[in-house]
Amino acid sequence: MIRRWDTESLPDLLEHIWMELARIDGDRDHPWRLPVLATSGSHGPNARTVVLRGVTRPGHELMAFSDRRALKVSELGHRHSAVWVFYDPRERVQLRAFTEVRVHVEDTVVDTYWHRLPEANRSNYLSEKAPGEGLEAPGAGRVLSPGSAHQFAVLIGRIQRLDWLWLREGGHRRAGFQREGAGWSGSWLEP
Ligand SMILES: Cc1cc2nc3c(=O)[nH]c(=O)nc-3n(C[C@H](O)[C@H](O)[C@H](O)COP(=O)(O)O)c2cc1C
Repeated sequence: MIRRWDTESLPDLLEHIWMELARIDGDRDHPWRLPVLATSGSHGPNARTVVLRGVTRPGHELMAFSDRRALKVSELGHRHSAVWVFYDPRERVQLRAFTEVRVHVEDTVVDTYWHRLPEANRSNYLSEKAPGEGLEAPGAGRVLSPGSAHQFAVLIGRIQRLDWLWLREGGHRRAGFQREGAGWSGSWLEP
């Protein structure tokens, strides 16, 4: 598996990165399925794990779901820039995707993905209380019925820049890719 990272061609490396991102959809155990999403809030930086729900290669976009009342959603409403950090400990490969994020609430994008969500997952977006609100006891929050108004939000990050790092035996490697119009320019970097 590691061999595919062993290239000295930047176009090939970029191709491998896209292939790896595309692979996540069909591989629930892929470590890149759980990136850390880092944002800037009014009190400073913030970061948390999310599930990567989709990747579109033509649009260079990453997608995650959330509760519209979550802090990350209001942070992204103020500052659209966010970094998605992926790490695969099996291959010791880190990918940082620098994005501009659009937050979708109560629109056709939300409707589309809400209808595709399995019933069991919908309860995550039907809690009476907002994420981070106080509870009297663990698990005391009330989940509304599936027919109630939901708080589902879709976050779509358009990738502007990629930073790839491989902790390779025999010499680490790092490369950066910058979006330029419809294409990408890349360069090797000192790790
Ligand atoms: C494995 C894992 C996956 C998670 N996936 C998501 C997710 O897809 N969306 C989400 O909003 N929060 C997800 N969370 C919870 C967030 O990490 C975070 O605790 C929560 O969303 C509140 O973050 P915020 O206050 O910064 O908005 C996940 C947590 C873990 C541990």
